[in-house]
Amino acid sequence: MVLHMEIIERIEAMQHWSEAQRRDRCRIVLVPTMGFLHEAHLRLVRDGKQRGDRIVVSIFVNPAQFSPNEDFTVYPRDFDRDRRLLEKENVNVLFHPSTAEIYPEGYETYVGVDKLSLFLCGGHRPGHFRGVATVVSKLFNIVRPHVAIFGEKDYQQLRVIRRLVQDLNFDIEVVGHPIVRDADGLAMSSRNAYLSPEERRAALCLSRSLRRAACMAQRGVIKARIITEAVRAEIEAEPLATVEYVTLCDAVTLEGIDEVYAGALLALAVRIGKTRLIDNTILKS
Ligand code: PAJ
Repeated sequence: MVLHMEIIERIEAMQHWSEAQRRDRCRIVLVPTMGFLHEAHLRLVRDGKQRGDRIVVSIFVNPAQFSPNEDFTVYPRDFDRDRRLLEKENVNVLFHPSTAEIYPEGYETYVGVDKLSLFLCGGHRPGHFRGVATVVSKLFNIVRPHVAIFGEKDYQQLRVIRRLVQDLNFDIEVVGHPIVRDADGLAMSSRNAYLSPEERRAALCLSRSLRRAACMAQRGVIKARIITEAVRAEIEAEPLATVEYVTLCDAVTLEGIDEVYAGALLALAVRIGKTRLIDNTILKS
């Protein structure tokens, strides 16, 4: 049975809906997205449905997390398709605000998670995590969820959000969902839509290099540099790929490490042609 899904565009209407659900003692789960939904987003939604009574999915392509030279204007969008997919998942509310609703004229307040934002992607996308932390804080205040679900594919984003929830005392349980991959290993991403068939094949070097690193760690290689060099070599053997970073770091602080231990994070960002892709894995020693 397909339930009626409400589409809410205004902040006040969203807050009123959530207030009414809370009065009825319903547990609200939020899955924030930028739309152009794929199977990984839907897995987060299904996970969310197990964790509460009402599920809200937000679709908002957040200009504050894109630098001027990034792909904000061309970021893939297909609202009608997204709406149909979410209806099939029996989502209760699709929250779809306009940019002016979230950032009205005169807007000037931003949330910064200082240290965690400096590492990994933060070093290459200045202001990105400030934009993410700001919009997620606003979504938390607008939707007032009990639970919010984020994917581990954007591992640093998940760490930043856990930190801000703790630091700003949001009464919200943050759930991390494992990376969802296509059958051949490529981590799903809305940006995979940019890839030509040849680039799609080349993009497999990301997950292949992570598997190689995982094998090295399991065979007892301890030096981080030896592992990151092998990962780089695997990626650089692919002519369409350019490494942005390959980093082994502590999975909580994201600070670089020299020696691998169980639970360390290996994270990378690679350009395939013009498309920037990220992936990561937690190593077992
Ligand atoms: P978006 O890229 O649309 O992703 C929405 C959520 O889906 C994020 O939590 C992301 O980590 C998760 N996700 C995407 N691909 C995944 C995969 N292959 N496996 C597991 N999870 C995956 O991330 C954002 O939007 C934005 O930054 C947002 C949090 C909405 C703030 O604007």
